[in-house]
Amino acid sequence: MLQKQLSPSQISMFYKDLFTYEQVKHFRDIAMPAANVTKVVVDVGGGCGYFANAVEKTFPIKARVIDADPISVDAARALGVVADVGDALRPAMRDDDGIICFNLILHHLVGASERHTLNLQVQAITAWRDRDVKVFVNEYIYESWFANISGRIIYLITSSKLLSALGQFVARLVPSLRANTFGVGVRFRGCDEWRSIFERAGFEIVGYAKGEAEYIPPARRLLLISEIRRDSFLLAAK
Ligand SMILES: C[S@@+](CC[C@H](N)C(=O)[O-])C[C@H]1O[C@@H](n2cnc3c(N)ncnc32)[C@H](O)[C@@H]1O
Repeated sequence: MLQKQLSPSQISMFYKDLFTYEQVKHFRDIAMPAANVTKVVVDVGGGCGYFANAVEKTFPIKARVIDADPISVDAARALGVVADVGDALRPAMRDDDGIICFNLILHHLVGASERHTLNLQVQAITAWRDRDVKVFVNEYIYESWFANISGRIIYLITSSKLLSALGQFVARLVPSLRANTFGVGVRFRGCDEWRSIFERAGFEIVGYAKGEAEYIPPARRLLLISEIRRDSFLLAAK
């Protein structure tokens, strides 16, 4: 199953350390109590290694990064983090893998259709189903005024070349509507949608940390978003 890929310039928008503090706080609260410190924290889609580096500095546990972007992997290595180029959909696994992290990556696993996208997001988690690991997910939660419609609208616009061209034009006038996923797609979801994906992947939720509600610019509210947060989940195979 092929994932739609962001271009190098779109990926370069992720080279900033924006969310590590909150991710590590959630990791401390829900994942560390269940961690076997002789095993390794694997940060899938771990980008430039900020989370893996912070985990190693904060807790007595080793971490490594798997990311599809070679520039991010080089940046992670420059921080002193063990990092490999790899694919979240076909990850290289090792015997010492302990907690598998998906920090803000699942919404980028986008395919040619809604169904394909759902399958990719499930596949990334199911890959670890029989490995005797726990899974930590930190994900954007887009709640809508009704029926999880915002994530669908954003996916519809960002995955369509035509609507993305229009979106890019509008975003020049209204900068809060900018998106680095125009023309490729991004699939944000409500909390109940992510929960059902984890279940479909064969996992149950054994820990949960709710993120703070973010400010939503007025223009974004036109997308029927009622709340944006970054929540974390700890998953165990059922
Ligand atoms: C939004 S960034 C998140 C980076 C970091 N985890 C964080 O929380 O700030 C998404 C990351 O996922 C990576 N990525 C996207 N698809 C991937 C795939 N199939 N396999 C591995 N990494 C992937 C991108 O290269 C990028 O580094």
